[in-house]
Amino acid sequence: MPNDDQREYWNEQGGPKWVEHQARLDSMLAPASSILVAAVAPQSGERILDIGCGTGAVSQQLAEQGAAVTGIDLAETMIAGAQFRAQQNLAFQTADAASFRSDTSFAVAVSRFGVMFFDDPHAALANIHANLDSDGKLVFVCWQAPDRNPWAMIPAKAVMPLLDNPAPPDPHAPGPFAFADPDRVTDILGTAGFRDVSIEGYDIPIVLSNTGLDDATDFACQIGPGSRAMTELDESGRKKAYASIREALSPYADAKGALTMEGAVWLVTARA
Ligand SMILES: C[S@@+](CC[C@H](N)C(=O)[O-])C[C@H]1O[C@@H](n2cnc3c(N)ncnc32)[C@H](O)[C@@H]1O
Repeated sequence: MPNDDQREYWNEQGGPKWVEHQARLDSMLAPASSILVAAVAPQSGERILDIGCGTGAVSQQLAEQGAAVTGIDLAETMIAGAQFRAQQNLAFQTADAASFRSDTSFAVAVSRFGVMFFDDPHAALANIHANLDSDGKLVFVCWQAPDRNPWAMIPAKAVMPLLDNPAPPDPHAPGPFAFADPDRVTDILGTAGFRDVSIEGYDIPIVLSNTGLDDATDFACQIGPGSRAMTELDESGRKKAYASIREALSPYADAKGALTMEGAVWLVTARA
């Protein structure tokens, strides 16, 4: 089945952590939400589809501004974690964005970091296009290149030396950085039927912790590419990874222990 690896990962590994840390992630990713929601500028009653909605923070923000929002996610775990936000104009559904079809089309498809995980991004984006009104729009945020996102790459690089035969990174493989190359994104969207593609860069702060280095290290061991690499390690490897991530993050802790790092996103908009 297409996207099976991601379904399994987000149901069994990533998803439970995202649900557990939902409030913290909502706060950490709020700068990206602000950029996204401002670009959407939702109208009252407008039908909006949130792709890879996770635990639904962006869906909720759009619904609070009067839109009629459907949040879909591949992982039941995530949708279960989103249901507490459901209300009259906000519904969540487990579905693969690559095959989901609605009886009624949407004015806008949005996503905060949920469109970079498709096995076949051309086909998935074509399917999202097919769910939009003829004058509909697509608005999403995705991560820029790893070296522009030290909050993710520094923990991941700290884990790499502990892995046996790490596979050479494939920049296009489904994952957080699969849409880092704007030329690739423009090509995918064009092939999928979108026009007037605009890609704008934003720098955002990523607060890994407000309470100190140990807390930031715990968090980096649970969320993000470093934690994903750690799933390949045994117990003793994970202990070494913790120490290695802690050391790599230590220069970023301020005098009070708070730990904020740089992040960079693309805001991508296009017309159906
Ligand atoms: C990094 S999380 C972001 C979640 C949420 N948008 C947020 O910002 O909190 C990526 C999400 O995309 C979902 N996802 C991955 N592939 C998907 C697909 N083919 N269809 C729908 N959702 C997908 C994952 O299950 C996961 O919840």
